[in-house]
Amino acid sequence: MGKTIDQIKAEALKAVETASDPEGIKELSIRYLGRKGAVTQFLRNISDLPAKERPEAGKKANETKKILDSAFKEALERIQKPAGADDRIDVSLPGRSVQVGHLHPITRIAGEICGIFTDMGFDIVEGPEVELDYYNFESLNFPPDHPARDMQDTFFISDKVVLRTHTSPIQVRVMEKTDPPVRVIAPGKVYRCDSDLTHTPMFHQVEGLLVDENVSFGDLKGTLTAFVHQMFDEQTSLRFRPSFFPFTEPSAEVDILCVMCRGKGCRVCSQTGWLEVLGSGMVHPAVLENVGYDTTRYTGFAFGMGVERIAMLKYGIDDIRKFFENDFRFLKQF
Ligand code: PHE
Repeated sequence: MGKTIDQIKAEALKAVETASDPEGIKELSIRYLGRKGAVTQFLRNISDLPAKERPEAGKKANETKKILDSAFKEALERIQKPAGADDRIDVSLPGRSVQVGHLHPITRIAGEICGIFTDMGFDIVEGPEVELDYYNFESLNFPPDHPARDMQDTFFISDKVVLRTHTSPIQVRVMEKTDPPVRVIAPGKVYRCDSDLTHTPMFHQVEGLLVDENVSFGDLKGTLTAFVHQMFDEQTSLRFRPSFFPFTEPSAEVDILCVMCRGKGCRVCSQTGWLEVLGSGMVHPAVLENVGYDTTRYTGFAFGMGVERIAMLKYGIDDIRKFFENDFRFLKQF
């Protein structure tokens, strides 16, 4: 007689401990429990044992068979489970946060500007970016071949169609459809053939227009002062400089006290202490006549500002092109 059943069992259990792949375990299973396996052979040869030892040996052999069978199964499970895998969920692990997007800084500032004026009672209106020469120039009192047309480097679509160079054509479109009083604010994209540190071929403006009885230059000043104080702060004073636009008379450019140096003079304000932020004036009677308003009864003021310019001052950005490069590292900061 060969090995005792205890020897076979010890040997098999030792082998299964060191098995590291499913094939190895399968082999062991065949070697011990298969048709010609050691345990099977032992059972088959039990009749060779002395009669009084047979019952005990048979019992042990059957037990061994069961023990090895479950040892092989367990080992197989242990091997097939990937390292570190655990059925339980660790509820204490921090969650994976979802990245939330936000508005583009220009959209945000345009919204802020419009918000200040809607609080004052202005309505928001829009107009087309591809505009007729009539609205962009002629109705705004730019006669054909007038040199003022050169102030704006126009993109022409055809003789009579342009990409609007400013949001002022919206003034005329609104007045054509509405009787006074009119109180609107008009944000939008505008286009000029120009590109450097402070100019891009497309940029944004916000236009304001108010027409009613007894509207004076004082109303314009008061409205813009309230706006600047809300957009920047109460310490930001304004200065009106005489200027020229064909569609306003008188016209003024508005400067604010430099937000960087507070008037001392710095690189941003070119040592002047002031920053130009918008164009404005009293609506020219010729424009009111073009839309059929009674100029003996109504007067109005208008203004237009560059959104990028305001955003650059508010956030201290020195290159306008950064707004349009879609560099996430830049945009993420706002
Ligand atoms: N449209 C002018 C510009 O683009 C700004 C402006 C608007 C001036 C309204 C006066 C009145 O520069």
